[in-house]
Amino acid sequence: MKFSHKIQQCGLSPMRKFYPYEVAAEAKGLRVHHLNIGQPDIETPRAFFDAARDFGETVLAYAPAPGVEVYLEAVRDYYARLGYPITCDEILATYGGSEALQIVLPCVLDEGDEILIPEPFYPNYDTFVRVTGAAIRPIPTSAEEGYRYADRARIEPLINEHTRAILITNPGNPTGVVLTPEERRLMVDIAKEHDLLLISDEVYREIVYGDEAPSSMLEFTDAAENVAVVDSISKRFSATGARVGALISRNKELMGQAMKLCQGRLCAATLDQVAAAALYRKMDAAYYAGVREEYRRRKDAVVAALNRVPNVQFSEPEGAFYLMVTLPVDDAEKLQYFLLEEFQDQGETVMYAPGEGFYGEPGKGRNEIRIAYVTNPDDLTRSIELLGLGIRAYNSRKQ
Ligand SMILES: Cc1ncc(COP(=O)(O)O)c(C=O)c1O
Repeated sequence: MKFSHKIQQCGLSPMRKFYPYEVAAEAKGLRVHHLNIGQPDIETPRAFFDAARDFGETVLAYAPAPGVEVYLEAVRDYYARLGYPITCDEILATYGGSEALQIVLPCVLDEGDEILIPEPFYPNYDTFVRVTGAAIRPIPTSAEEGYRYADRARIEPLINEHTRAILITNPGNPTGVVLTPEERRLMVDIAKEHDLLLISDEVYREIVYGDEAPSSMLEFTDAAENVAVVDSISKRFSATGARVGALISRNKELMGQAMKLCQGRLCAATLDQVAAAALYRKMDAAYYAGVREEYRRRKDAVVAALNRVPNVQFSEPEGAFYLMVTLPVDDAEKLQYFLLEEFQDQGETVMYAPGEGFYGEPGKGRNEIRIAYVTNPDDLTRSIELLGLGIRAYNSRKQ
């Protein structure tokens, strides 16, 4: 069979290749600590399961293509509480933030087009862009500058006649960068001035550690035509398996185009939307504050532990639950194989996500890793200690 160019250019998850080595390490009796997976261990609120159990219909029918009314209204009211009034027809229910991306990208990207994305970026963006036939033009950043990218002089020279959109994650995965109000304004201004769509992936919105309230690019009503927001209940309510998200935009034409794909896939899951609506309705400010506090404790534990590891370089994350760390090694992938095959400390070792998979350009990020801090502070402290011991053993082995 001949497979399409587009699909052949896509890669499998860069993390997958370590799985057999993890299984082998565990078969030897090692305990493998995980800093590599973005699956939070925080409990999904009971409200989700209660609503699913109380679902009164006798037929689990298709939902309307744009979404179940109670879900759309709950999302609308959630945004109103944040201070961003939107109407239900500016929301499309999707299978997580992932499907929102898979719907919005083909609306604006054709073969040969380009989309600007700050690098390092969430690796699935690469797949979603490649299947449209377009290409990512990375906005380069550096570890030394804390991966900040909202800089006119850096972005504007990358815009050309093929550029159609800018895609950002705010708060950032994998960097933990959160844009300042001025940086948010700048990103919107650039999109508006160059007639581009700014796609703002805000699935980590509430997980921010500064004083600023959770934000959205929807605040810029003067640039309403140029903004689309990708949202999800996955991280907000620790409900990754529910697969409920949203594509939000005040650009009516864009939403009209997106509706074609929504109708084509018939609907997002009816029951999951109903249960997600209960989360939006029932979880109050105390819930969001509690989740944020929990991640802050985890972030503080990781930062304190990393400060004890010699010669690593990192910036303290401002949001989401990830950070990039530059290691004093030649190659973070080789170190990962070493940690799984040759290293252990008291029967334990550690996994992370090697940095290269987050870059568009081969060779970049070779001595960087992404850490996801989604377990409890004690485990995180031990995981980072193992990383430090592993680096020492790896570097002394080579000398
Ligand atoms: C930046 C970012 N966007 C989107 C997603 C997709 O999440 P979901 O499809 O579960 O909403 C993820 C998941 O990890 C993510 O990190």
